[in-house]
Amino acid sequence: MRDLNGPTLPRRSRRTAALLTTGAAVTATLLGVSSVPANAAPTAAAAGRSARTAAAPDISVANVKAHLAQLQSIANANGGNRAHGRSGYKASIDYVKGKLDAAGFTTTVQQFTSNGATGYNLIADWPGGDAGHVVFAGSHLDSVSRGAGINDNGSGSAGILEVALTVAKQGYKPDKHLRFAWWGAEELGLVGSQNYVRQLPAAERQKIDAYLNFDMIGSPNPGYFVYDDDPQLEGVFKDYFAGKNIPTEIETEGDGRSDHAPFKNAGVRVGGLFSGADYTKSASQAAKWGGTAGQPFDRCYHSSCDTTANINDTALDNNSDAIAHAVWTLSGGSTTPPGGGKVFESTSALDIPDAGAAVESPVTVGGVTGNAPSALKVGVDIRHSYRGDLVVDLVGPSGKTYRLKDASSNDSAADVVATYTVNASGEHADGTWKLRVQDVAAQDTGRINGWKLTF
Ligand code: TRP
Ligand code: ZN
Ligand code: CA
Repeated sequence: MRDLNGPTLPRRSRRTAALLTTGAAVTATLLGVSSVPANAAPTAAAAGRSARTAAAPDISVANVKAHLAQLQSIANANGGNRAHGRSGYKASIDYVKGKLDAAGFTTTVQQFTSNGATGYNLIADWPGGDAGHVVFAGSHLDSVSRGAGINDNGSGSAGILEVALTVAKQGYKPDKHLRFAWWGAEELGLVGSQNYVRQLPAAERQKIDAYLNFDMIGSPNPGYFVYDDDPQLEGVFKDYFAGKNIPTEIETEGDGRSDHAPFKNAGVRVGGLFSGADYTKSASQAAKWGGTAGQPFDRCYHSSCDTTANINDTALDNNSDAIAHAVWTLSGGSTTPPGGGKVFESTSALDIPDAGAAVESPVTVGGVTGNAPSALKVGVDIRHSYRGDLVVDLVGPSGKTYRLKDASSNDSAADVVATYTVNASGEHADGTWKLRVQDVAAQDTGRINGWKLTF
């Protein structure tokens, strides 16, 4: 069957040049998938942990701004605001929830009534971590009725959303449990967060190691204010800014004016960041932070001009990165190193019909949180007497195909034993993946011996 001499010459003429198509962004390394253990499908190897705590990633300010643009569109489509009891508020909740659900968070919408209208809190838990130690970040998602509320508080809402999505994208495995929340009816007097804290059993409250609040982090004439309620949490933020040579001050523009207050009153340690509202920037503050002295930090505070134009991108960027720094530092986790993740494998042999229809070998992945990695390793073990006959694709749970290998009329070698790297970050990890193999030229034949995915 495996005749590398005789059949090779006449075969060339049977092949069409059209077989060579450009594949997806896939790289291959020819590494052996030598010993595939029998009946090992699917196996979950121990997830390796790096010894050191993973450094916080840079948060994309472009992505944060994209969320702000969506919140602005929602306001535009709903009478100009995203206020409690108005359609723009629920639409904002739906937007944030949709992103988190797609990324693998466990979300809960909590309803309450305020001022005769239904309000909503959105709680998002990142599966895993020590449930007895919760690191919690929150922002109010409602605006005042006078405007779209893009700085107050689209900014904090978008910042923690992008941090949460980055947790998922990175496959971050914190030692502590991560929770995020978007509060309703803050502008009516901290109503949503108060409701949350009130209904939370005391035992659950005691599991919260830190509540971090982000209400206005992109003020157009910004200051860098750090809550001083807890020295350790204050220190985590101050360290971040010190490392960037950005001076900070203690937040004094109305203690207890945001959603950290109910947590603090219940005995939870709180921290947070603030870039300033209607107080005036002093000359010394302008000297160290830039901007305009004698003007408010946010001249559009609670006004109709609090739009996407009412954002300082640098402050939004620095504060978003500082949130990530705090979340990573306080939760003490690690990112699974490449190759150290779980392995899911098929060891079922499958014949590939000669010049016939494609065959598909399934592998079911379960228990992996979030999306697949951007460098998913696909180990393939195909035995074939003329591998140029073969077109090989990975099929994701969504049905999307990723070309691993094209057919080639002049690749007369035997077998495809290789590890491919696929950017599969658009796929949920969990679900049924398939290796699709088609033999497109007559004469030589073979079979899939097995294949595996490493998350
Ligand atoms: N959303 C808050 C409010 O309207 C904004 C605010 C003012 C604030 N001062 C603050 C937030 C101090 C945190 C800390 O009251
Ligand atoms: Zn406000
Ligand atoms: Ca063939």
